[in-house]
Amino acid sequence: MSEPTNRSGCPFGELPPVGITENALNYNDYLKVEQLKNLQICMSEPAHHDEPLFIIIHQTYELWFKLILHELDLVIEFLNKDRIRRANFFMKRVNAIMKLLVQQIHILETMTPMEFLGFRNSLNPASGFQSTQFREIEIVGGLKDKKLMAHFDRAGDAYAKLAQRNLEPGLGDVFYAALRRKGFVLEQTPDCDVSDTDSNNQHQPQQKTDTAQESRLQELRKIYEHPEQFLDYHDFAESLIDFDESLALWRSHHATVVERVIGFKRGTGGSEGVQYLRSTLNKRCFPDLWKVRTVLQYREIDY
Ligand code: HEM
Repeated sequence: MSEPTNRSGCPFGELPPVGITENALNYNDYLKVEQLKNLQICMSEPAHHDEPLFIIIHQTYELWFKLILHELDLVIEFLNKDRIRRANFFMKRVNAIMKLLVQQIHILETMTPMEFLGFRNSLNPASGFQSTQFREIEIVGGLKDKKLMAHFDRAGDAYAKLAQRNLEPGLGDVFYAALRRKGFVLEQTPDCDVSDTDSNNQHQPQQKTDTAQESRLQELRKIYEHPEQFLDYHDFAESLIDFDESLALWRSHHATVVERVIGFKRGTGGSEGVQYLRSTLNKRCFPDLWKVRTVLQYREIDY
């Protein structure tokens, strides 16, 4: 069926449409499309055909990272006010974006290893490792890593932002605080620094915290074994797991795509490349929420 048209034959009406003056805001101005299109500066000379793909994929990741941080700040605000359901509404938005980000990395599989070699040297020593927004997301998630900060000391304002994030309570901290206000007895999590932990042990602090964790797991069991009593808290905890799972999946998909494109070459950021990326795969933001599954006992739930 053909679109209805006006007398001029244009489906959008005569231009400019009624009520829209020449000075009115338009799509391209509102979204700064021209400025956006001018932000892809190729470093290869002459510009390699695949470099715009490489730039745009990273830039879109950074835009989504920006939004994720914007939403996580609001999630934390709602948790601090015990508005768990509202916090979860925005957590679900974050998780929808995270799912997209896991998939997005695969667009790079349309670039062959040889094509990447055609411009890889031109971007050396820049690396995703230096993404300060990615580090901010990790920190808000609870993955504080003092040793990593040394890599960002020349990042100016971004370093200050990271340092500030390191001082603030992360998502897990504010969720635990909300649970304590609800009456759960949760022993304080140690001020956990990833660099003090064993990366093969699911980012679990060492032996010394086992008793504290045991007692927290017994409290968290109540949320999972009695979801009908603590539904909002239960659903929020599952959203945290969604977030953590997506982050872990992103790490794994990224590492595999990197192996496919550069094999076991060193990274442009100076690391051992895929071997380094594999060492990050077991990082978890909310280790208690993963472990609690192991101690759950079945009971019939009457919702
Ligand atoms: C062909 C494409 C890509 C290659 C070959 C690649 C390669 C690497 C390598 C080798 C590292 C380790 C650090 C280093 O020594 O450089 C790394 C880290 C990283 N890359 Fe990529 N990458 C690619 C695409 C992307 C994309 C699209 C993103 C999106 C933001 C990204 C984000 C990151 C992040 C955040 C890290 C740090 C990971 C961590 O420390 O846990 N990379 N990348």
